Amino acid sequence: APQDNIRNFAIIAHIDHGKSTLADRLIQLCGGLTEREMKAQVLDSMDIERERGITIKAQTVRLTYKAQDGRDYVLNLIDTPGHVDFAYEVSRSLAACEGSLLVVDASQGVEAQTLANVYQALDNDHEIVPVLNKVDLPAAEPERIKQQIEDVIGIDASDAIEISAKTGVGVPAVLEAIVTRLPPPKGDREAPLKALLVDSWYDTYLGVVVLVRIVDGVLKKGMRIRMLGAEASHEVETVGVFTPKLVSWPELGPGELGFFTGSIKEVADTAVGDTITEERRRTAAPLPGFRPAQPVVFCGIFPVDAADFEDLRTAIGKLRLNDAAFTYEMETSAALGFGFRCGFLGLLHLEIVQERLSREFNLELIATAPSVIYKIRLTKGDEIELHNPADMPDPVKIVEIAEPWLRATILTPDEYLGAILKLCQDRRGIQVDLSYVGNRAMVQYDLPLNEVVFDFYDRLKSVSKGYASFDYHLTEYRVGDLVKMQILVNGEPVDALSMLVYRGAAERRGRAMCEKLKELIPPHMFQIPVQAAIGGNVIARETIRALRKDVLAKCYGGDVTRKRKLLDKQKAGKKKMRQFGKVDIPQEAFIAALKME
Ligand code: GTP
Repeated sequence: APQDNIRNFAIIAHIDHGKSTLADRLIQLCGGLTEREMKAQVLDSMDIERERGITIKAQTVRLTYKAQDGRDYVLNLIDTPGHVDFAYEVSRSLAACEGSLLVVDASQGVEAQTLANVYQALDNDHEIVPVLNKVDLPAAEPERIKQQIEDVIGIDASDAIEISAKTGVGVPAVLEAIVTRLPPPKGDREAPLKALLVDSWYDTYLGVVVLVRIVDGVLKKGMRIRMLGAEASHEVETVGVFTPKLVSWPELGPGELGFFTGSIKEVADTAVGDTITEERRRTAAPLPGFRPAQPVVFCGIFPVDAADFEDLRTAIGKLRLNDAAFTYEMETSAALGFGFRCGFLGLLHLEIVQERLSREFNLELIATAPSVIYKIRLTKGDEIELHNPADMPDPVKIVEIAEPWLRATILTPDEYLGAILKLCQDRRGIQVDLSYVGNRAMVQYDLPLNEVVFDFYDRLKSVSKGYASFDYHLTEYRVGDLVKMQILVNGEPVDALSMLVYRGAAERRGRAMCEKLKELIPPHMFQIPVQAAIGGNVIARETIRALRKDVLAKCYGGDVTRKRKLLDKQKAGKKKMRQFGKVDIPQEAFIAALKME
């Protein structure tokens, strides 16, 4: 397409404000799919996304649109994920376009997530078209929300477009605005190829598919390309676009978005943000690099049944093919056997991976408590990164431990503010700012990530009845008074249950864990102490009483079949027990203890 007739845009919106519904409408109006093909929410293609109604992978769609000026335009829509864990995916999608539709639910108003995304769009010099969605709802207040957009975000909202993505009202005006209000891409067709690697994923039939935005030059089948960052070269096998169906295409020119495939083995070989150029005629000016996706939350994942380990290995390997942000390495635990230490972008990412493993691969799994990366300075002067509390060095060798902090922005109706401040305070939060947006409070807190990876998000939703919205970005490492808490059963440390905790919270956590284990570990012939300890100091203790003789008596004597049954039952039970010294701990005890907080 002639460059002047191309428009590249993203839709930014808070979760549930109607981004996918609008995208589907735009696709429909441009005839990208027939009615029959138009399944609900085309853009959210993964099952779990559809079920949870969230967008994970950035996707793109090429639309053709005949505008009121009589000309044909190519509109490339890049979908962006809507959850904090995937902020890095948003940033690369935005860098591939010139403008954004800012979709705000006219009955809800601006949310924390909206703010974060708009600022990123502004950083990318985007032209922004505000769109007020859900005006069909009786609770919609478009005028008030326009004012709010101006007050909070500081952009002109006087010509915001009022629509209902659900009924379709106003949506044609959105298409016109894309053409008239967003600029066409710049770029030189004669220059050497320069393209941005926006995303990549693994396709069973095509292998690794790479989504690119062409900046200069042309990408064609048969070309030998070079990835400057990865220092790799590949021959282009297919070039294509999504309409949203995958369609092969002769070439992609400046300003265009599309994909190519080549002999690339793994998604991990395609670094997002990398510059792609021609092998023989290389661009002189690579694109500025991106912030790579770094896992920040870690946990161990183990099969409940040790016999499933190989299946777990295969499943994890397959997942990784399609998700370069997810990392793993083998881990062994005395309590849980063989498994993997896995890294995630955040808690939602962790949940999604866990869910996919158990659902798509039919595996029963145990995950250990999530942990962040600690930086530990040792007496010898060196610094180590700790991904797993079980690897914690001897405390006498430690000078200090630093933990990652984040800056959180929370928007909430005024009535929940008190409960939210208390929650942040309880989690060692430091208030940075508090201001008002109409009758809603906007509060900023610095919080340790460690306190957020536990159920912070769930707690926030529950104390605000779902009305508070939350966004964060990691800021820095700060030294903290952190200690390793161990759980000892009958004097033996149980590695899977050890964790790094803030000293002030250790006793409460330790006590809760001991009480829980007391309920979960069956009595033995002898009394079993369950203790929480920091170094050599026991900070909490519970005791599991010894079995009484007459209970045992039932197991002996009696008729033979009953005895056999009991023995079989015991044997089956044994399989799921882990032995610690002389104590058998049932698998469920770990699962329940690890779910706790
Ligand atoms: P994520 O994919 O999680 O980011 O959400 P989203 O922003 O894509 O929201 P989605 O399009 O899935 O819409 C969220 C909910 O709002 C769905 O139940 C939609 O049916 C509903 N919805 C979307 N647009 C409208 C609208 O114009 N009016 C009404 N009444 N409901 C709408």
